[in-house]
Amino acid sequence: MAGKGHAWWQSGVIYQVYPRSFQDSNGDGVGDLPGLLARLDHLVALGVDAVWISPIYPSPMADFGYDVADYTGIDPVFGTLADFDRLIAAAHARGLRVILDYVPNHSSDRHPWFVESRASRDSGKRDWYIWRDPAPDGGPPNNWLSEFGGPAWTLDAATGQYWYHAYLPEQPDLNWRNPQLRDAMLAALRFWLERGVDGFRVDAIHHLFEAAELRDNPPNPEWRPGQSPARRVIRAHTMDQPEVQEAITAMRRVADAYPGERLLIGEAYLPIDRLMTYYGVALSGFQLPFNFHLLSTPWEARAIAALIARYEAALPPGAWPNWVLGNHDRSRLASRLGPRQARVAAMLLLTLRGTPTIYQGEEIGMTDVPIPPAQVQDPWERRVPGLGLGRDPVRTPMQWDAGAGAGFTTAAEPWLPLAADWRSVNVAAQVGDTSSMLSLYRALLALRHAEPALAVGAYASTAINEDDVLAYERRDEATGRRLCIALNLGGHPRVLAGFAPGAYVLLSTHLDRPGGMINSMVRLRPDEGIVMVHPC
Ligand code: NOJ
Repeated sequence: MAGKGHAWWQSGVIYQVYPRSFQDSNGDGVGDLPGLLARLDHLVALGVDAVWISPIYPSPMADFGYDVADYTGIDPVFGTLADFDRLIAAAHARGLRVILDYVPNHSSDRHPWFVESRASRDSGKRDWYIWRDPAPDGGPPNNWLSEFGGPAWTLDAATGQYWYHAYLPEQPDLNWRNPQLRDAMLAALRFWLERGVDGFRVDAIHHLFEAAELRDNPPNPEWRPGQSPARRVIRAHTMDQPEVQEAITAMRRVADAYPGERLLIGEAYLPIDRLMTYYGVALSGFQLPFNFHLLSTPWEARAIAALIARYEAALPPGAWPNWVLGNHDRSRLASRLGPRQARVAAMLLLTLRGTPTIYQGEEIGMTDVPIPPAQVQDPWERRVPGLGLGRDPVRTPMQWDAGAGAGFTTAAEPWLPLAADWRSVNVAAQVGDTSSMLSLYRALLALRHAEPALAVGAYASTAINEDDVLAYERRDEATGRRLCIALNLGGHPRVLAGFAPGAYVLLSTHLDRPGGMINSMVRLRPDEGIVMVHPC
């Protein structure tokens, strides 16, 4: 087994489940926990190590679970606490870890804390949220904007003050400067840790604090019409404030009080230098601050090589890297890059140094599904229509088989429409197809687990990064075994020279030449990536 001497979250691979769309067990058109339990063997066969489940807490679903009305319960649409306990036991029995989503920046406006906070200016919980008097003209206290469009302040007419919300008005921001609120939120972590969860993905952590003086955010000269209206201002006073560091350390102390290396992953879309501070002083913060930079880097060999170099160089001593190529908020790989390059992207993600996260459905090459206006669910698309900001297209039901409902549901209408291609693009069809995307993911995961060089080995760049070819080396320090990964990011054949005889291919994205000997030249076919046993 690869990765001896490393923590499970270092040698492991994480798989993200968006539970509404994974597996419905009761025919209501929405996925649930018993459904997820029934599909755990798919994850085992795929070869991942941990499953991160997007929020399953009681919620009015204004933002589909990212508006939490009770941090220590399960929404009935997903099941019960007993279902959760069964799920975690079944996952652990299969050697799978379970990571929950933790949403500390905001609750639902229906959370009893907010209901109490809103009730009067001298409510005992008034200070658990962020309330401010109107500006002199009666308008919002300042120019801060909601990520989902419109002002970040909503007036409560009864008490005459505005509440702050980085996202929807239905997602009021919690005030982490209040010690009671902080204790209550940390207690929620303990509740789940005691139930056996192996870690948390911490939502929107860069939004946790706002500057206390409430100064206006400066205008953003780079904003153009067609971009998200929230980007009209630079979030100088609403993001990445210094106090966040201490709050993260407090979360980490809670997690570290439990045995078994519980994991904290931070969701922060930040420049690399700022992201690094989320590892914390002396690594006292997140073990993995999510690295989203591949999502915004052009799909070009030089640009990606430069990103990897910058990220690797910026890591604090002892910090463990990680890579993300998709999630429930971002366009799918096969839509972004095309189906052929999606295979190359899978090889990149699963051969880089650092913990990879795979988003559900990527392993069968699902694509973004166009959603007719009448079926739009995402509040972002509803509030800011037509700019392509909506996330429904990447949240459509998992395609399990060619039957009605794609094996996802027996309901006539799932909560979001199925992709038009579900009868051909589905797990059942791909299991039996030795050249399918699913076969590629399984092969890549098996190779990553078999090769310490890939799971935990060192990374070295090469001089080859030109003409669409991205190449790098992974080396197992213990044995000296060196693997060269060469990815053709374009649609033309490429020849790489200078290889010593004896090199051989372990895996091609085309899945058709394992064991192939290489003489002095390597011929990469269009859209082909290979892993070779050879120095780069
Ligand atoms: C980030 C989550 O990934 C996204 O889905 C959600 O809408 C926002 N945070 C607000 O919680």
